[in-house]
Amino acid sequence: MPGTKLKIRVFGDPVLRKKARPVSRITGEHREILSQMSGSMYEGGGIGLAAPQIGISAQLIVVDIGEGLYKLINPKIVKKLGSQAIQEGCLSVPGVCIKVKRARQVWVEAKDENNNLVNIHARDLFACVLQHEIDHLKGKLIIDYASFLEKLRIKRKLAALKTTAKACKLQL
Ligand code: NI
Repeated sequence: MPGTKLKIRVFGDPVLRKKARPVSRITGEHREILSQMSGSMYEGGGIGLAAPQIGISAQLIVVDIGEGLYKLINPKIVKKLGSQAIQEGCLSVPGVCIKVKRARQVWVEAKDENNNLVNIHARDLFACVLQHEIDHLKGKLIIDYASFLEKLRIKRKLAALKTTAKACKLQL
């Protein structure tokens, strides 16, 4: 699929709620997907993106908070410490901002695109983004963290997104 313009999947698309499959053997196809994901992330002005957001149910994420691009395969949080609450947006839930309470520090184990083991100790924003993207691989979205009042506040917006997702199932 080189050259294909990737469509960011939006709330209401079932792929966003699926548990992403672990990658058992890293191939050129995964490297191609990761490179396309990076392109879509930069194009969308995001600082992280997970494969389900482009309709691929595989455990692949990309993150760049301005300190270099990380392409991670099968990322797992092995340790968490502290807490922080940051207002988060998501390319798959456009127009919605939710304050999400997460760990302030995380230790993540993953593979890179060359099958090397990667160990990351992340804090603050980097830790937040990693947790957000790993949530995507579990089918979890920022709206799942919304308080009752926040849910009321965004109810109409979500209904509109869902209708759009349904109406435009066929993307040509
Ligand atoms: Ni997101």
